[in-house]
Amino acid sequence: MEKKIDSSGVIKAKKHYEEKSAASRSESSHNKKTRFTRSSTESFAQSRAKISLKKSSPRAQQNKEDQLTRLNKVIADSGITSRRNADDLIQQGVVKVNGKTVTTLGFRVSPDDEISVNGNPIPQNIKKIYIVLNKPKDYIVSVKDESNRQTVMDLINLKSRIFPVGRLDRNTTGVLLMTNDGDLSHRLLHPSYEIEKTYAALLDRNLLEKDAKAILAGIEIEGSKANVSELFIDPNNTRKVYLTLNEGKNHEVKLLFEMLGYKVKQLDRKAFANITASRLPKGDWRFLTKHEVFQLKKMVGLF
Ligand code: URA
Repeated sequence: MEKKIDSSGVIKAKKHYEEKSAASRSESSHNKKTRFTRSSTESFAQSRAKISLKKSSPRAQQNKEDQLTRLNKVIADSGITSRRNADDLIQQGVVKVNGKTVTTLGFRVSPDDEISVNGNPIPQNIKKIYIVLNKPKDYIVSVKDESNRQTVMDLINLKSRIFPVGRLDRNTTGVLLMTNDGDLSHRLLHPSYEIEKTYAALLDRNLLEKDAKAILAGIEIEGSKANVSELFIDPNNTRKVYLTLNEGKNHEVKLLFEMLGYKVKQLDRKAFANITASRLPKGDWRFLTKHEVFQLKKMVGLF
């Protein structure tokens, strides 16, 4: 009953996502910074008005070059979006560097450049945080809820601004990743990476073998076939089904069973990629280990 997926799809996906060529050098004029000199007697403001025509030494210049980072990466690293979406924001003209609008893709910035998106300052070098929450029932997966219902953010007592990686329904429990790494989040959710999620579903009635076969053959949900790579029926309770999918459609498990006339009574996510919440009580969270983060990044070509 098992349908295995080989890794070729992932490799293809990685290729699809390969970064374009290194940052263009066309912005080098931006990178050549004017040097200011300051005597011990003059004020800093006065010194800023003085422009030295002296050029940096090649080594100093190289050192500055080494510190430059692509603007889209700095924006993504701040956690507000992915690198790809940051490129869209840059092209839309809503990104400023030191007060000037930048629309060039591949533009690079130094650590002391002031960056803003839609007028909001973007801090640089934010520490990346990766956690897994064992989500309990009755919590909305969102940073904020318009109706003021409790959200998963209420369970995380961290000062850092993090967000959930994807969605779980209000009554679904289990593994929920949260991070401030926009790039990783975007890739983990992108269908081309085929990141596996495993669920335990309790149905309203016993799952028939013919329906299990139909699920593995591919049930169509919202115009495409749901790719269930593994399915296991608990022999002691055939209402209980474990299944692994590699897509990220909202309500996919419930929709899948609904198509065959079943209702999902309980749904618990057991794993997201390599991450599980075993030994974490519902409502608790933990930081991912370095190795877990490394594995996640490797899966989506960020290492
Ligand atoms: N599928 C669903 O139906 N609900 C979830 O919360 C997750 C996957």
